[in-house]
Amino acid sequence: MEKSIEVIAAKILSVVEKKRLSMRLVMEHYFRKNQDVEIIRGVVRAYLLGLLRKYRILDAFAENLLDIQVSTLGSFQRSLLRSILYESKFRDVKRRRLESLLKFARKNGLKITWQDVVLVKNTPIREVLRRYQGVERVAVEYSLPTWVVEYSFKLLGKRESFKLFKAFNKRQPTWIRVITNRTTREKLLKVLERRGFEAFPDKDFDDLIGIRRGEGLARIPEHKSGLFVIQEKASVLVGYVSGFREIFVDFTSSPGLKLSHISERTGYGIGFEIKHRRIPSMKNILERIGSRDIIDIVNTDSRVPPLRRGSSNILLDPDCSSLGRLGVSPEIRLWITPDYVSRHREEQRILLKSASGVLEKGRCLIYSTCTFTIEENEENINWAVEELGLEVVEVEPFIGVEGIGVPFAQRLYPHIHHTIGFFVAKLCKI
Ligand SMILES: C[S@@+](CC[C@H](N)C(=O)[O-])C[C@H]1O[C@@H](n2cnc3c(N)ncnc32)[C@H](O)[C@@H]1O
Repeated sequence: MEKSIEVIAAKILSVVEKKRLSMRLVMEHYFRKNQDVEIIRGVVRAYLLGLLRKYRILDAFAENLLDIQVSTLGSFQRSLLRSILYESKFRDVKRRRLESLLKFARKNGLKITWQDVVLVKNTPIREVLRRYQGVERVAVEYSLPTWVVEYSFKLLGKRESFKLFKAFNKRQPTWIRVITNRTTREKLLKVLERRGFEAFPDKDFDDLIGIRRGEGLARIPEHKSGLFVIQEKASVLVGYVSGFREIFVDFTSSPGLKLSHISERTGYGIGFEIKHRRIPSMKNILERIGSRDIIDIVNTDSRVPPLRRGSSNILLDPDCSSLGRLGVSPEIRLWITPDYVSRHREEQRILLKSASGVLEKGRCLIYSTCTFTIEENEENINWAVEELGLEVVEVEPFIGVEGIGVPFAQRLYPHIHHTIGFFVAKLCKI
């Protein structure tokens, strides 16, 4: 049982939740140490994505039908319980397999019986949902933190929010950027097709390809030899709207995807990164796609940038509450709280101020985040206009919807653009 999909998923999930790490990172670590089960890596990932998109429904079953208070369990037990309930409720599993899983669970101190899983299997979801009211009910149904649902209702209205929540729980395309000085999009499309991927050219950007089922992409030879990089469409948009043609500094650069994209156009770029441990993997990516020679990386704190006021443009893509990633990285749902928004907003303003401080007249700053909160987006832009004297300028291409009260800023949403939720604006010192 130790090496079954359900138990591996529970082990990974428990580390993800306890340490608040990304699923991708924990999986990377797990499968490096357990190479004998590498073959089921893709299945475990799909299993975890499915489970996380249902985690509140699973918890509701445990609490209402089995009388198990999920929050009082240890983190491995909680993850194992979720894994077993997901298996019983949403997958067509064989009885023998489930029985061994239950035995394993009981050995690990989880009091769950065959009768319990049968009860969960046979009780319709609406029966359990009936015990919740209003916003809480929507939050359980879509497995989102209640405050996120409340926030979205206020910001976007109910109609739009429901579309957004549905999109968060649906598979979106995986986007890859073609390294155009190594191959063409057409050639890569053919190779991907030969390898069995359902790939399509993006309609907005001619170096972008969408893949309908992206599992295993990172393991094909074309990825290893740097013909493409897995990069969100929203992130690629930043490269286009920057319009940068000469030296620029990326203030918050790891893993370096936007930095490399823009540097391909400018011929040179500098990346600042505060976290020393993020730099080696960034160097590996840049090396792999052939951008290492045109990029300098500086391990520094951009709140006090080692720059004099100068003639470079700036990219600022700071850490954020990541609400736009609730679909692709559903693990965030386990720990995200409203104070992430306020804490990030403060940090973002400090970085906006330091960036503006070194920006010369006529130079511009691109500001982007992967969240849809107004505090981290339009409110920060309005603040930068009022307090720092920057001006929001029109950009090309404009593929998103207009920022809330900030005309030239653009927002992207999974239910409209099939990307992560995203915000980007260009601010210039006039
Ligand atoms: C959202 S990520 C950037 C993603 C990157 N632009 C890309 O597209 O690949 C933000 C990065 O900024 C770094 N960071 C946060 N605060 C920073 C600071 N004060 N100075 C420099 N880097 C910082 C984080 O460690 C993180 O790697």
